[in-house]
Amino acid sequence: MPGLLLGDEAPNFEADTTHGRIRFHDFLGDSWGILFSHPRDFTPVCTTELGQAAKLAPEFSKRNVKMIALSIDSVEDHLGWSKDINAYNGDQPEQTLPFPIIADAKRELAVKLGMLDPDERDKDGMPLTARVVFVFGPDKKLKLSILYPATTGRNFDEILRVVDSLQLTAYKKVATPVNWKPGDSVMVIPTLPEDEAKKLFPKGIFTKELPSGKKYLRYTPQPE
Ligand code: BEZ
Repeated sequence: MPGLLLGDEAPNFEADTTHGRIRFHDFLGDSWGILFSHPRDFTPVCTTELGQAAKLAPEFSKRNVKMIALSIDSVEDHLGWSKDINAYNGDQPEQTLPFPIIADAKRELAVKLGMLDPDERDKDGMPLTARVVFVFGPDKKLKLSILYPATTGRNFDEILRVVDSLQLTAYKKVATPVNWKPGDSVMVIPTLPEDEAKKLFPKGIFTKELPSGKKYLRYTPQPE
């Protein structure tokens, strides 16, 4: 079955983009990466999403995350559309977007990566690309996958928030609870024994008492 599961390695595809031809692994290098797909160029929701992605590009860059978009049109269309996206943002239309857009006119990548939305079709009856978010770690493995239908735009602030969680939990033995934001307390992972947790988290651990008597709700301040 086409698609990518958590832990899968990113396929090392070659593609034409608005920044030239790329090989995906070379593009990612040692960075984190986010690949976000779009149903079609010159469509309203996609334009607002790419505008917001462009505005947030410095935040992704600060986190060492390389951004790349994909849409099922040609590089020429993408370049024309980029002007509209810049204008939507109130920027100079001619400026280069801070991330490449992959041209997937034949939907080859969309099929390979399991991105098609069967409910949204173009005028020829062909399925459009759904709004996928793939986040890859520096090891090029898939760390997060979110799939939205074509009719629901994404929240890029939420995507930044999950990147913060992914990066924190990749390096520390913690998990982030519901509605966590950077700076909030985090949870000690359930498999970590109490004595090790005390050593690892010198800022202290607060365990909430529960009717079950089980001591699994263990908070600690966000580690550095
Ligand atoms: C849009 O980007 O606005 C859109 C694209 C395909 C289906 C619905 C909306």
